[in-house]
Amino acid sequence: MFPMIRGALLGTIWMMIYCVCTSFQQETTFVYNGFDQGDHRIHLQGGAKIIPKKDVLQLTNATTTQIGRAFFEQPIEFKPSEPVSFSTHFVCALVSVSEVSSHGMAFFVSHSTDFEGAEPSRYFGLFNANGSASTRVLAVELDIAKAVDVLDINDNHVGIDVNSAVSVVAAPASYFSDKEGRMIDMKLVSGDPIQVWVDYEGTTLNVSIATLHNKKPSRPLLSSTSINLTEIVQGRRMFVGFSGSTGSGVVNQYVLGWSFSKLMASLQKIDISKLPKAPHPINKRNYTSLLSDVLLSLLALFVLGLLFGAYMYRRNLYAEVKEDWENAYGPLRYSYKSLYKATKGFSKDEFIGRGGFGEVYKGTLPRSTEMREVAVKKVAHDGEQGMKQFVAEIVCMRSLKHRSLVPLLGYCRRKHELLLVSEYMPNGSLDYHLFNDDGPTLPWGRRFAILKDIASALSYLHTEADQVVIHRDIKASNVLLDAEFNGRLGDFGMSRLYERGADPTTTAAVGTVGYMAPEVTTFGPSTGTDVYAFGVFLLEVTCGRRPVELRVPAEERFLIKWVCECWRGSSLLDAMDPRLKEFSSGEVERVLKIGLLCANLAPDARPSMEQVVQYLNGNLALPEFWPYSPGIGALTPTTLSPELLSLESQSLASSLSNTSMFITHTVLYGNGR
Ligand SMILES: *[C@@H]1O[C@H](CO)[C@@H](O)[C@H](O)[C@H]1NC(C)=O
Ligand SMILES: *[C@@H]1O[C@H](CO)[C@@H](O)[C@H](O)[C@H]1NC(C)=O
Ligand SMILES: *[C@@H]1O[C@H](CO)[C@@H](O)[C@H](O)[C@H]1NC(C)=O
Ligand SMILES: *[C@@H]1O[C@H](CO)[C@@H](O)[C@H](O)[C@H]1NC(C)=O
Repeated sequence: MFPMIRGALLGTIWMMIYCVCTSFQQETTFVYNGFDQGDHRIHLQGGAKIIPKKDVLQLTNATTTQIGRAFFEQPIEFKPSEPVSFSTHFVCALVSVSEVSSHGMAFFVSHSTDFEGAEPSRYFGLFNANGSASTRVLAVELDIAKAVDVLDINDNHVGIDVNSAVSVVAAPASYFSDKEGRMIDMKLVSGDPIQVWVDYEGTTLNVSIATLHNKKPSRPLLSSTSINLTEIVQGRRMFVGFSGSTGSGVVNQYVLGWSFSKLMASLQKIDISKLPKAPHPINKRNYTSLLSDVLLSLLALFVLGLLFGAYMYRRNLYAEVKEDWENAYGPLRYSYKSLYKATKGFSKDEFIGRGGFGEVYKGTLPRSTEMREVAVKKVAHDGEQGMKQFVAEIVCMRSLKHRSLVPLLGYCRRKHELLLVSEYMPNGSLDYHLFNDDGPTLPWGRRFAILKDIASALSYLHTEADQVVIHRDIKASNVLLDAEFNGRLGDFGMSRLYERGADPTTTAAVGTVGYMAPEVTTFGPSTGTDVYAFGVFLLEVTCGRRPVELRVPAEERFLIKWVCECWRGSSLLDAMDPRLKEFSSGEVERVLKIGLLCANLAPDARPSMEQVVQYLNGNLALPEFWPYSPGIGALTPTTLSPELLSLESQSLASSLSNTSMFITHTVLYGNGR
């Protein structure tokens, strides 16, 4: 019985020894792909903890001058008979949580777990200023703060410490890339996971780091042959683990995975895909910086949008229409931009008036040194057809040189718009001076001189120019006054643009009511129709009123008829402008008679402009004629239209507006502006 008991006892002891041995064997190699809170094999000290659910080992908890340690509870036995070696591979992350990050963390191999006297900050919770008095410690530090007294090389380095915070060897954090064949810098406190390998065999200690998805570098970052761990390790049981510390700044040190083995060959692989993620706290600073980033990008987008809008606006603003055929008129062509700038963007301040063809603006063009004042007329124009010929004619008219013509300087073309640039006439249009009751009355002498100016200009157009030029729209508002109040004829030939307008039915109707000779509607414009209009103009200037005036007694409404009535009655001078005080009655009577002669209903009975000039200058006697002569003082069918006599001005304007913009325009004039 006794031997049986003895045997059983022995068996149990053997079994126990076996168990203990195998357990020792098992514990010399382990791997963690993340940490479990319930795992008691990891011993925690100080601020260290395993974050529940996140499976991350955190060393310090964002508290200043703090220490946190975590180590494998079972010490690793280094037998005196065996050569010392070990291998470890871990993945950690240093996440910045404040403006200043310090100090980092270290992997350690320590004889004792009692770190009495060890200090935080640059001592990593493992050493103090005197080294490590009570214990034997090997540490591999990931240091993110530069401490001068422990001879740190920079604030981003890896070092090997033996019993002291002063590293035996250290190097700036970087790894060797096989692909690129060079060292690549790494930022330890980037928050990204860092792989660290520490291998010791013989007397060589190698340390490598790399980013998460890199292989173990073929060349270690630190390789030291001068470290003889035999004294520290051999024949002892050593604890392995991590220690982190903070100083005046803090940093979150996380360990995500860890593999350790006494033998390099039996080191187990960390499964990168199973590793937990290092918590990245969206703290206030990050949040505000994120917010400000978003705001900044929005602002940038907004500014970009504005710039693009401004670009498109400018592009649109200055857009022109230019065709190949216009190249021939190169020097005459003004850029819209220059006109836009000259007229200060066609501002109200530069607005001169509304002519028959469009709005007129004053512009100041910078011409090298001398500034030049111009008038820019904006003519709305829809039809592109006929534009070529019109521009050609406009250009041709530049060759017309007469002191009483307003010189055309050039043009610019845009979609739906033609801009004509001519010399600026500082005293505006004659009709303003004639019909403006407020200002001083234009004296007779001046009026007579202006009439002669215009007669001479028109005569020039009809006879002396290379080809006969018909003005088509003689009237007071188309006569401009220069600085010396000389009359200048403007807008010649402009109505041709409208004759060729989109609506062919309006062709013959262009002109101005009251100035239109009766045959215009049937035969179109001719020098004779110009003479007719000039006759009306003579009467208009002498009588100081418009050819059709709806606000006066019925018998006075139509100027031609009224002048003739006066002649038939007591005196021709009754028709003249009552505001004229000093005048030569002979001149006035002659001008009125020439006016009636020119406005003869029959084209053949009208004089030529050459003759008119001579009549005005008194070089030629007027032909004999009477108020009862045929065609004298008769109204044209246009002015006699029943609508004009009976309709209210407003409806009149609209009923005639279809015919041509000119007619509409003048009827509005007739109502007084
Ligand atoms: C950090 O850990 C210490 C223990 O070292 C503890 O007293 C403290 O409350 C912790 N602070 C935070 C913010 O968790
Ligand atoms: C370092 O050693 C000196 C003298 O041996 C001692 O006075 C001092 O307190 C020690 N410092 C630390 C931090 O242990
Ligand atoms: C350390 O690195 C050197 C150089 O790459 C290599 O020859 C040696 O085998 C390495 N030793 C260990 C223990 O990894
Ligand atoms: C390491 O240290 C031990 C004990 O001091 C010594 O016996 C051994 O020769 C040393 N090894 C080397 C390579 O210096």
